[in-house]
Amino acid sequence: MAFGGMELFSGINLSFEKDKVYGIIGTNGSGKTTLFNIICGVLTPTHGQVFYEGNEVTGMKPWQLSRKGIGRCFQMVKPFNSLTPYENARVARSSAGHYSKGEEKFSLDEIMELTGLKDKRNIVTSELSLPDKKNTEIARALACNPKIMLFDEVSCGLSGEEIYARMDLMRKIADYGISIIVIEHIMMFIKEICDEVVVLHAGSIISSGDPSVVAQDPKVIEAYLGGRKL
Ligand SMILES: Nc1ncnc2c1ncn2[C@@H]1O[C@H](COP(=O)(O)OP(=O)(O)OP(=O)(O)O)[C@@H](O)[C@H]1O
Ligand SMILES: [Mg+2]
Repeated sequence: MAFGGMELFSGINLSFEKDKVYGIIGTNGSGKTTLFNIICGVLTPTHGQVFYEGNEVTGMKPWQLSRKGIGRCFQMVKPFNSLTPYENARVARSSAGHYSKGEEKFSLDEIMELTGLKDKRNIVTSELSLPDKKNTEIARALACNPKIMLFDEVSCGLSGEEIYARMDLMRKIADYGISIIVIEHIMMFIKEICDEVVVLHAGSIISSGDPSVVAQDPKVIEAYLGGRKL
């Protein structure tokens, strides 16, 4: 992906297996969100190809990829603020429902329960706290019947207890048979929920594999933490 003179992901080959939970970590500006933008069609890579379920999807639009089962939550949270959490999910379901009828893993009521929004389902989203706005976005993405979910900095701005609740939510989503890729800064979060982690630095992959092993990789400690242990 070239942005003017800057190139990210030159010559890299990255694949994600179904039914696994992957973590992406890396310093600010290392390319994490850009990777998500490429996977879900917000950006078309200047070179290279993207495959999903064995078929090339390079250049497809986000709405086309959403209908194929790629769900996404944003680093800068963007629910439909003038609607309630339930309405956010209902709009998403009514749009996605035409394309994935019969593939619903959960009802809208179950989604409200799962995302902790049951009691707030009828409050206008603009009045909710930041974590609940993020939950609303997660609910909206789940309502689209995803096969894979991309979470960008899912624990950002959360307190200790809320982080544990988010980890629980990730595990539950995975238990429903939805594959997950999560961008996250908190290593404990990655170690607890991820099968594998990929470490980006300046648009390259500097390490990948088992989170506990990767956390000890000197390249990661140096680049990501400036020498401090994870
Ligand atoms: N649309 C764009 N146009 C130009 N440059 C961009 C664009 N999107 C990202 N970049 C640049 O690409 C690099 C990677 O950005 P990206 O947002 O992917 O980083 P990140 O790893 O998600 O960082 P953070 O941890 O701060 O969220 C940065 O230098 C950024 O300024
Ligand atoms: Mg980012």
